[in-house]
Amino acid sequence: MIGDSAPVDIRNRADCERLVRAFYSRTLTDPVIGFIFTDVAKLDLEAHVPRITSFWETVLLSARSYGGGAFRPHAELHAKVRLRRGHFERWLVLWGTTVDELFEGELAELAKSHAERVASAFLARLASIPAPDGPAVAAGGLAVTHHGPDLG
Ligand code: HEM
Ligand code: HEM
Repeated sequence: MIGDSAPVDIRNRADCERLVRAFYSRTLTDPVIGFIFTDVAKLDLEAHVPRITSFWETVLLSARSYGGGAFRPHAELHAKVRLRRGHFERWLVLWGTTVDELFEGELAELAKSHAERVASAFLARLASIPAPDGPAVAAGGLAVTHHGPDLG
């Protein structure tokens, strides 16, 4: 939580949407996972924001605005570009940073812990789905490319 007002927890749908928009403004330009959203998924942010806002409103505020089926788009994505542990770890860092910047309280904590559970569940389910092999993979599961002059 930053700013000079007292820390507040997530209270309503508008707070969920603010959180989601702040997350994407950070994530779409992220050097590690941004390309998955912009280049691979070609995310339509204005179509996506209401759905993901409903997801969080359902998880955090017991709304019933989200209909389910969250795993499927990730399975489709994985078939195009293998989603690795390191990608999910990065996603969780960006999510946690955004939550902490804007909110503080029980629901803010739940937003972080539920994301961790979903991320582990997705990662486990993706393991049985075929995906393209990327370039060489370093410890931590992210692709490493070589830049600069070839020094032999
Ligand atoms: C406040 C109560 C909770 C609500 C309203 C809630 C809501 C949801 C929703 C809407 C989804 C997406 C489901 C889909 O799209 O098919 C989900 C997924 C998930 N939740 Fe929760 N959740 C709650 C508590 C919990 C708790 C206590 C746990 C574990 C201890 C948990 C673990 C998971 C996992 C692992 C997934 C991913 C499932 C998958 O697709 O593989 N949730 N939850
Ligand atoms: C590497 C990690 C991840 C990537 C690259 C990723 C990417 C995406 C993309 C591109 C979509 C939009 C699909 C579309 O509408 O075109 C999406 C949807 C979604 N993602 Fe993720 N995601 C990641 C991790 C997570 C995690 C950890 C959660 C857990 C909270 C999550 C929850 C959702 C939900 C709820 C949707 C909406 C599905 C629907 O339309 O009903 N994602 N994700």
